[in-house]
Amino acid sequence: MKILFIGDIVGNPGRAAVTKFLETHRDEYDFIVANGENAAGGKGLTFEIVDQLLGSGVSAITTGNHVWDNKEIFNFIETTPQLIRPANYPTEVTGSGVTIVPSSSGQAQLGVINLAGQIFMSPYTNPFHALNAILPEVKAETPYILLDFHAEATSEKIAMGWHADGRVGAVVGTHTHVPTADARVLPQGTAYITDVGMTGPYDSVIGTRVDLVLERFLTMMPTRFVVAKGNVKLCGAEIELDDKTGLAVSIVPLQVQY
Ligand SMILES: [Fe+2]
Ligand SMILES: [Fe+2]
Repeated sequence: MKILFIGDIVGNPGRAAVTKFLETHRDEYDFIVANGENAAGGKGLTFEIVDQLLGSGVSAITTGNHVWDNKEIFNFIETTPQLIRPANYPTEVTGSGVTIVPSSSGQAQLGVINLAGQIFMSPYTNPFHALNAILPEVKAETPYILLDFHAEATSEKIAMGWHADGRVGAVVGTHTHVPTADARVLPQGTAYITDVGMTGPYDSVIGTRVDLVLERFLTMMPTRFVVAKGNVKLCGAEIELDDKTGLAVSIVPLQVQY
């Protein structure tokens, strides 16, 4: 099973890169999963954008701490099962943290789990216990499982990789918007990368216009943030899972310049 995971899509430049890449490459993958938490002008998601991503070949959309930034999401998160938010919210929170989606051929299913970290993040419940609680129900449905761990601290992300090793096919890190050089298959067969990086403009401060961020650091006053434009890259990872076991055969980081 070949999975493409696409890192945090930032605004219009990020969405354009995804559309362009998938126009020619969507048929190469059994599953395409994308983190969309910054797809609408850097802040959350709209129905139109979700519809467009799903229409371009994306099988499931994960999110993170920016999931609620665009209030429109409350109108469609319940009715769009392919769109998930971190699972480690209190149980009464709208939406789901897990989805099971069909492959492009319809012959297999991928379980996608989204969790958020606790270090340097808003308060979420313990993601390590959350994974333990979620896994049995997902494993009952499919051997192919991917976890998007949306977290800031490298230590917490690496610990999650070891916690999940041999229990899921892949743990991919998102949120920092900066790709790390540590993609590997862990000893028990889980593909792991601390962060795949964002899909968006790299002449920026993690997607935002440099001048506006510098103004905030220099004046220490609030400024409005606008998505930057230059040096757009699609960043993600290609993961191959063994058809029988669902464990990882390989993980290769992907960076495409636009
Ligand atoms: Fe993000
Ligand atoms: Fe984030």
